[in-house]
Amino acid sequence: MSTKQSADKLILALDGMNKSEVFSLIRDIPELCWVKVGLELFISEGPDIVIALRDYGLKVFLDLKLHDIPVTMAGACRNAAQSGAELITVHACAGIDSLVQANESAKEGSAQANLPAPTLLAVTILTSWNSMKLKSELSLDQPIEKRVELLADLAFKAGIGGCICSPLEVKSLRQLFSLPFQLVTPGIRPKGSSSDDQLRIMTPKEAIQCGASRIVVGRPITQSISPVSSFQAICKELGGS
Ligand code: C5P
Repeated sequence: MSTKQSADKLILALDGMNKSEVFSLIRDIPELCWVKVGLELFISEGPDIVIALRDYGLKVFLDLKLHDIPVTMAGACRNAAQSGAELITVHACAGIDSLVQANESAKEGSAQANLPAPTLLAVTILTSWNSMKLKSELSLDQPIEKRVELLADLAFKAGIGGCICSPLEVKSLRQLFSLPFQLVTPGIRPKGSSSDDQLRIMTPKEAIQCGASRIVVGRPITQSISPVSSFQAICKELGGS
């Protein structure tokens, strides 16, 4: 895999920074293709941050993890699509009606703005959960893998373009849901880095080998002594020179 192909598989999560810190970081990483704008950055900087990052030449994954009644999901996805975000997250547990309407409205929104249709990604179970927590906090007795499969299936049936899952679930989900359904995984930790609050983790290379379409990495890059070296090391691990 060339460095460009590796960088295209790596989405940098821009958490814990304001706009000027974000731009100072991204200027240091010329190979960067994808950034993830999460709730923290979106709420502090507003939707203009998405437009600013696109204008800078980056592809934006807008990770708002939308979860609401169908009409509200539809309106939010229509507006999100008009900002030019190429990936947008919704919660699979919002249910089929919400997912279908969100997907249709995202397509309408992008068409109205003369932009390509974004891909919606359904969040299955956050990577900060494990089976024990599902049982003790939510009384969900089902093994986490089964729960993830059920939620991914909802998303698939609703026509959503892919889902977010832990790298530990990628292999089994790929057997159930073939391409072009995308499997995007956070919970990535290069060898030797802290797991932070992530409970279901894998290294970048392992996740891609298991079939992840793209990986999301935040703190192992943004909080490292040299974010640019950490980014490049992951690209190298994925096969770039
Ligand atoms: O810093 P770290 O690499 O743990 O960042 C992971 C990013 O992926 C965070 O922005 C987090 O919100 C997001 N995410 C996650 N688990 C999910 C979905 C999204 O960690 N299931």
